[in-house]
Amino acid sequence: MSSIEQRSTLTQFLIEERRRFPQARGDFNALILDVALACKAIAKSVAFGELGGLYGNHAEDQGGSINVQGETQKKLDVLSNQLFVRITEWGGHLAGMASEEMDTPYQIPTRFPRGKYLLVFDPLDGSSNIDVNVSVGSIFSILRHVGQSDPVTEQDFLQPGNQQVAAGYALYGPTTMLILSVGNGVSGFTLDPHLGEFMLTHPRLKVPEQSQEFAINASNSRFWEAPVKRYVDECLAGKTGPRGKDFNMRWIASMVAEAHRILMRGGVFLYPRDSKDPSKPGRLRLLYEANPIGFLMEQAGGRASTGQVPMLTVQPTGLHQRIGLVFGSKEEVERIERYHAEPVEWHDEHNPLFSERGLFRD
Ligand code: F6P
Ligand code: MN
Repeated sequence: MSSIEQRSTLTQFLIEERRRFPQARGDFNALILDVALACKAIAKSVAFGELGGLYGNHAEDQGGSINVQGETQKKLDVLSNQLFVRITEWGGHLAGMASEEMDTPYQIPTRFPRGKYLLVFDPLDGSSNIDVNVSVGSIFSILRHVGQSDPVTEQDFLQPGNQQVAAGYALYGPTTMLILSVGNGVSGFTLDPHLGEFMLTHPRLKVPEQSQEFAINASNSRFWEAPVKRYVDECLAGKTGPRGKDFNMRWIASMVAEAHRILMRGGVFLYPRDSKDPSKPGRLRLLYEANPIGFLMEQAGGRASTGQVPMLTVQPTGLHQRIGLVFGSKEEVERIERYHAEPVEWHDEHNPLFSERGLFRD
């Protein structure tokens, strides 16, 4: 039997969800379908790789281009951003957009009607992995445009993550998947490359509560705060350490791919606040990385935190604000929060890995 006979399409899934809300007009579903189309278009560009002439940096002949984050833009970063904008701006569902690749909010051109939602996105997360053919993805978050401001302002986007109407990501890996939450659990869809349709393959995703896998960029260990050092060290100490079990470690450098692994089989991801660059309180961005992934984790029974407070309660102060991020299996994230809350009575010198001959000696 073909997949179309056995499974729901994304469209069918959205229509069935909407039937639970008879007052809904369908704007929201149309918006999600446009976002899904943008992701399919990006998947196609990513899949062509070198053949598409899309590897390398944007505007290389003019010395390259740098985004508001101070990061060199790849050709595919710029193209993915354009695809998101062009495919979603015309439908009349949006009042404005914000993206990692645009310094200020994007205004819907006056020739199109304005809608009641705001779309926030990271068009191509993990883009340092593009040229080496490792999974990348797109992350998105949908908010209500609560003010009536026209044009939209940065302030309109500064809503805590618990106000998100929907969030999701597309992962461009061996298969293309779309993971989505409209605030009623998390569902996973796989792109059928023949039909060009996202098919429901992973209904009701749940993050396992316990895990033995963690992900952190250990090259930053000398900049970590004590609670993070403690957590990682206890994991590394394995069976004979305080945790009494061995852990595995992973680092893909594509947060969206790490989030997917954690949704599938549990684990914890940390890109904590550290002392590497005092101007950057963390590496990842609150509005289009931490909040949508945090929403998905919580909707799947996992947890997302800054280390100190639940991620979704943070009041944003800037469109491109960075923040320390910890997410994944509930018990692990809670443990990390506990270590942050406990008085610092744990010292490096008691710890074999940070001691004179230790692995993570500063
Ligand atoms: O968008 C930021 C990002 O590419 C994430 O996807 C990833 O987790 C992180 O940066 C990788 O950071 P680093 O280069 O420090 O490993
Ligand atoms: Mn990113």
